[in-house]
Amino acid sequence: MQYIPLIPLSDLPENTHKSVKQGSKSIALFHYEGIISALDHACIHKGGDLGEGFIQILDDRERYVACPWHGWQYNLKTGKAPDGYKDRQAIYDVIVRDGMICVSEKPVTDAFRSEHESDPLADLRSLNYQTTATSLNVLGISTTNMNRDLPRPSTSETALQSALDIAASKFGAQTKMIKLRELNFRHCEGYYSRHEKACTWPCSISEMDANDGMNEIYRSLVLWADAVILATPIRWGNASSLYYKMAERLNTVQNQITIHDKVLIKNKAVSLIITGGQDNIQGVAGQLNSFFADLGFSFPPFNYLGWSRGWIAEDMENNYTRFFKNRYVKRSVVDLVTNTVKLVQQIKQMDASQLQAPKPKISEAGSLSE
Ligand code: FES
Repeated sequence: MQYIPLIPLSDLPENTHKSVKQGSKSIALFHYEGIISALDHACIHKGGDLGEGFIQILDDRERYVACPWHGWQYNLKTGKAPDGYKDRQAIYDVIVRDGMICVSEKPVTDAFRSEHESDPLADLRSLNYQTTATSLNVLGISTTNMNRDLPRPSTSETALQSALDIAASKFGAQTKMIKLRELNFRHCEGYYSRHEKACTWPCSISEMDANDGMNEIYRSLVLWADAVILATPIRWGNASSLYYKMAERLNTVQNQITIHDKVLIKNKAVSLIITGGQDNIQGVAGQLNSFFADLGFSFPPFNYLGWSRGWIAEDMENNYTRFFKNRYVKRSVVDLVTNTVKLVQQIKQMDASQLQAPKPKISEAGSLSE
């Protein structure tokens, strides 16, 4: 067997690891318990550098390296994933010769990525759209938060439910309401900041946890909806914190444009319901609209309905009753739905297959000449 010298042994003290490049090869070297081992540096999931991974001792008392991108784990000596997984990273034989760590020219065990028989994210991975030329699927997303055991009336959610009822009864739409507070989902963990390839579609977190609640949003918003109506309360002059939590997890949709020049949202409209005891409706609408514009949504004319009784309206116990009885609210919900449906019916006729996004792309980043 041919061996390639990599680095002096003194450059890899006990309890350390790192990746070393030699020609076209990059090897992750580990020095633990007096043993030096060598794995291919590129994680078989999406290519994270295992030389920057974290060492963990699992229940089998064996040492594993956890990929720094999404946490796939590989045994340092065998390259195998933990019990229950058949995946395996390539491993190289290691000898120390004349004070140099040398690895076999070829892996002694090749990498193996198992077919995960039932892929719970297959529909997202293959972008299995459920919209059709004639569908009218209206998704309501309620972002208000409340105690499940002590629910209270919500102006934004009541208006949203009313909008969905009108979409169904007046336009024959299929409707669905998602209440973000009922979804158990993780915050965005910022994998893009490690490497652009670490932010994936489906989301890196979905890849790690097929039960993460955002998968319902991805399926409904990306694959199912023709129109989205999002309802938010005003909190400190902004949309609800649950909205922002969701928006950050939609980085995965926007990043597809940046990284792969791939637009996932086409021929879809969005409208907003923004209600608060105090004001800043236009500020919230501006922020939300700029976000949905970046995803690829279209806007009907007058795409938001607002409700606010002003700075001194601290009698919030009366807010819901006044809202509920208000003629403006009743009429404007109908107007909002009508405008949204009419736009959807038009944009569904457009050929968006070649849609281009005038957004920054990774291929253009760091260019000094243009
Ligand atoms: S790239 Fe290694 S776990 Fe995703």
